[in-house]
Amino acid sequence: MKKNSVLNSTNSLYHPDKSVTKHARIKEYDKLYKESITDREGFWSKEAKGLHWYQKWDKVLDDSNKPFYKWFTGGKTNVIANAIDRHLLTETKNKLALIWEGEPGDMKTFSYFALGREVSKFANVLKAMGAKKGDIITIYMPQIPEIIIAMLACAKIGAVHSVVYGGFSVEALAERIADAHSRILITADGGFRRGKPTQLKAIADEAMRRSPTIDVCIAVRRTGEECYMENDRDFWWHDLMGMPIASSKCETEQTDAEDPLFILYTSGTTGKPKGLLHTHGGYSVYASTTFKYVFDIQPADRWWCAADPGWITGHSYIVYAPLMNGATTLLYEGAPNHPYPNRWWQMIEKYGVNIFYTSPTAIRGLMRYGASWADKHDLSSLRLMGSVGEPINPEAWKWYYDVIGKGHCPIMDTWWQTETGGFMITPLPITPLKPGSATKPFFGNEVAVVDEAGKAVPAGAEGNLVIKNPWPGMARTILGDPDQFIEKYWKHYKKQGWYLTGDSAKVDKDGYFWIIGRNDDVLKVSGYRLGSAEIESALVSHPAITEAAAIGLPDSLKGNIIHATVILREGFAPSDALVEELKKHVDNELGPIARPAHIEFAEKLPKTRSGKIMRRVLKARALGQEEGDLTTLEE
Ligand code: WTA
Repeated sequence: MKKNSVLNSTNSLYHPDKSVTKHARIKEYDKLYKESITDREGFWSKEAKGLHWYQKWDKVLDDSNKPFYKWFTGGKTNVIANAIDRHLLTETKNKLALIWEGEPGDMKTFSYFALGREVSKFANVLKAMGAKKGDIITIYMPQIPEIIIAMLACAKIGAVHSVVYGGFSVEALAERIADAHSRILITADGGFRRGKPTQLKAIADEAMRRSPTIDVCIAVRRTGEECYMENDRDFWWHDLMGMPIASSKCETEQTDAEDPLFILYTSGTTGKPKGLLHTHGGYSVYASTTFKYVFDIQPADRWWCAADPGWITGHSYIVYAPLMNGATTLLYEGAPNHPYPNRWWQMIEKYGVNIFYTSPTAIRGLMRYGASWADKHDLSSLRLMGSVGEPINPEAWKWYYDVIGKGHCPIMDTWWQTETGGFMITPLPITPLKPGSATKPFFGNEVAVVDEAGKAVPAGAEGNLVIKNPWPGMARTILGDPDQFIEKYWKHYKKQGWYLTGDSAKVDKDGYFWIIGRNDDVLKVSGYRLGSAEIESALVSHPAITEAAAIGLPDSLKGNIIHATVILREGFAPSDALVEELKKHVDNELGPIARPAHIEFAEKLPKTRSGKIMRRVLKARALGQEEGDLTTLEE
């Protein structure tokens, strides 16, 4: 790749060189993009034909009840038919599907055949435990192979998984179990993180006390730490998998295209997390197609998405898309800097990873330790790299590009959301890159930056990022709350029928998209998505606090850090000890990722006359900036 100095320095183009483009399935973007927009249904139906269907669809897109779009109606498939079953009929059967490494250095591998066997066995265990098609099963696990087996087993029998990130804590888990009315919880005694065992089962026990819908809890023994097991409710995974109920023969359920595959909770602007629902048909088509074209996966490739399966990135691009494409996917249990900051680079060398996908936060974190940790390793297997979760600053982009990619691996900066199921704005391996820009829309998508009235803003100006069309991977609704689905995403541009992303962005004169960040009360902390309101409710659940406001402040490492302002109840006084106690309380209720970096005591919060907290004012105050227009302030 060579730099092109024709454009100004922030806009310099990085052109992919031949070693990459010669592989690329897509050799030319503009023409194909135009075709995919002109005949969107034709584009998606052609892609869908590459997957296995028990019965072909009648209609590609049913838009008779907007915004509740349906895709491939009348079709019957199952993500498992594509992620496992069809590979067992080809040479892929004995190829590695999954390479897993634990933090302590233990490892396991599964061929497609072996993964299929374990999934069938666990699917039979779930059935024996009374799981039925349509049941929502909660999964709360560390990054071990069983989390993938559990997800796939749910899908196989037509049950719906709801994975709760293993870094979340008691109240976050309890709330999600209750919202989904789950009867079955799959967990583990714990996992390893920075050399220490985590206590997942203990957290799960407390969550089950708060949300009593669970009557079966299956736990993997991972750490071997002592843990409480309740009679007739709690079972060890290995005990059940050793019983005759765990037969390795299990038929895959033939699900309708629109049958739910999973619920994934994500933070929105209200205190309650939203359970976004994805389906077997459209999601399968969208996840597998985006992966195939963007990361240009080849049969001999080893792919590593260093995310947690508990987030959408892990669902789509550790589990479903790679397996549907017959790829080898890697999963690593622990921290990138344990025991040393070369852990990831060591893994790339050890397993010969060809394509590597991570977040800007992780890159910035590892960049701090300097290039020498990466330079110790042979990273020459890498061909393509990716970034996701937040805007990547050009400095981190360049470090990633030069130090890890050695100047010849293009970076696919993929913009997307839990709601979108897969990549929406992204380069392809042939796209000339601009560091910090997610570049252009993926096929089939018309994306724009508009003002409040829906008028396109001029090149370089900031506005709301919207998507103007339906796409197969779109979330279908919010579990139990279709009104909120309309309210959140579709009401703002109701007249136009556009999807509101909640992000603000710019488009430059070359049509490249630059994401600025969230323009609602959603925070991205180290790439993790959190809601101001969730953090506030965790704080207010402490007896000393009557009101709280949480905002994000820019941070060069984490993207944002949480700054909380709290009001004390009568009888409590501010102190450093109380600050520490409040931080611990948030760890305990929501999880350490939501812990405020600062907690400030105040007499009152700035509010509008209608009583809404003006977080904008708090942010300006915390940053020592102008407070702006205060005309709507209470007093
Ligand atoms: C942000 C993660 C800039 C964005 C897949 C979005 C990004 C939110 C990028 C969704 C990117 C994701 N560049 N920002 N490449 N990718 N975001 O649901 O603000 O956890 O709205 O999905 O992450 O977060 P979520």
